[in-house]
Amino acid sequence: MFFRHFFLLLKVAVLTPSLFAQDGGQLYTLYCSACHGADGLGATGGAFPPLAESSWVDGDPDRAIKIVLNGLNGPVEVSGKTYNLEMPPQGAMLQDEQIAAILTFVRSSWGNQAPAITSAQVKATRAANTARKNWWTAEEILKLHPFPIQKTILTDLTSQVYQGVWKYVPDFKTLKAKNIEEEHDGIISLKDSSYENDYGMVWDAKFEIPTKGEYLFYLDADDAGRILIDDELVLEILGTGPLNGSRAQKCIIELDKGSHRFRVEYIQNQGNKGLAIGWRPSSKKKWNWLTEQVAKSPTLQEPILIEASNGRAAIHRNFILGTSPRAIGVGFPGGVNLAYSADDLGPALIWKGPFIDGAKKWLERGTADSPPAGEKVIKLSDARSLPSQARFRGYKLDAQGNPTFSVQIGKQYLLDSWHAESGTLVRKLTVTGGPLEIKIAQPPGISIEGAVGKSAVKLNPDQPVTLTYRWN
Ligand code: HEC
Repeated sequence: MFFRHFFLLLKVAVLTPSLFAQDGGQLYTLYCSACHGADGLGATGGAFPPLAESSWVDGDPDRAIKIVLNGLNGPVEVSGKTYNLEMPPQGAMLQDEQIAAILTFVRSSWGNQAPAITSAQVKATRAANTARKNWWTAEEILKLHPFPIQKTILTDLTSQVYQGVWKYVPDFKTLKAKNIEEEHDGIISLKDSSYENDYGMVWDAKFEIPTKGEYLFYLDADDAGRILIDDELVLEILGTGPLNGSRAQKCIIELDKGSHRFRVEYIQNQGNKGLAIGWRPSSKKKWNWLTEQVAKSPTLQEPILIEASNGRAAIHRNFILGTSPRAIGVGFPGGVNLAYSADDLGPALIWKGPFIDGAKKWLERGTADSPPAGEKVIKLSDARSLPSQARFRGYKLDAQGNPTFSVQIGKQYLLDSWHAESGTLVRKLTVTGGPLEIKIAQPPGISIEGAVGKSAVKLNPDQPVTLTYRWN
């Protein structure tokens, strides 16, 4: 008797899944993972778009529900990469509660953090769209369900408005603000000024860093702007010009866990205005925006490229064979290459010819070390060239992708800039806050103009020293 009932119950459970909780993870594996990958990163090495950290699954539930019900085709941009594929409709084969369970799973997996979706929501959306027969395009969906402005990480945000005619960011600390306001939404917005032309704005906030690590910041402005973190200038756009990515600046900086002072200074001269500020941990792909405006495809200028292209240096931030773990590879146009060690705080390797064969590794997400791909590899150091209290403070790329590495030694800063010039590597060293001596390795195979026969160079503030590394 007991057994008959038991089996009857089991049968009911199998036949009417809607009465029982759905396992979103299992359903995802069945219906989505073939294309979007078990890890949500997009199947076949990212040929399909990711759902992990995708804005499409975040916010308004209707955006993702509609895509699942009716499918999607045509160009779609996901985390800065454009896809032009087809996703067939899934609505006919999935019940409302199954779609709800799948999307709830997707919205809470792989770093996504969006609220659950109920079957009532799916039901309502399905009912409201019965007339819809075509697949959606990304453009249509976004018009109906735009991406929300993300809640930002900024707290205690205040904005100040100044009036004046400027082409460069002035020293706002010497000027008097026309207006000061608290911005409780944490969003850096140009709407907070009533002026259209000839004004400046300053925002001050606290930026809470959740875990110690390397963070990227992105700045684009129309017209000029700069970002200061803990009163230190980290990014700056000089002069007047448009916001279209051509003048955008990015930097990587290492920040300790905890609260940091975050300040943005901005000026609008004449014509269009705009400000886009993004940030992300270096381990993540998705930018978080602090402004209403977001940059167009900031990942297109990602400092992770495998080859110098369009006259711009390539940056490789994976492990490089023969260097310390935190090496930053730079492939300059013209076939000269550098691996800078963020552990040893100086150049580790330089070589000529091809940069790094990293393409395969990136696609396969490998972790093995990539060797330099070229020849005449010269080891410059495998030990610190600076005092033990020196700390790596990140690097900045100029418009050509040439890096300036930044090191802090107590109150002093050392800026170590590199670029290529007719087959040589040119290194410019600048120190602030007091004199500094730097060890220079003189291995065979090269000569270093500016330090011939010297084992160290002495730097004085405001007297940059230029060294030229020439292969013999
Ligand atoms: C047959 C392959 C395939 C299956 C199965 C599939 N998708 Fe997709 N999906 C795609 C493709 C391809 C695109 C991009 C379409 C385009 O380029 O317009 C996409 C786009 C998306 C998007 C918007 C873009 C993004 O990456 O965030 C979402 C959300 C999405 N799919 C969710 C799902 C969910 C949830 C399932 C399972 C119910 C699913 N998909 C099943 C292929 C598929």
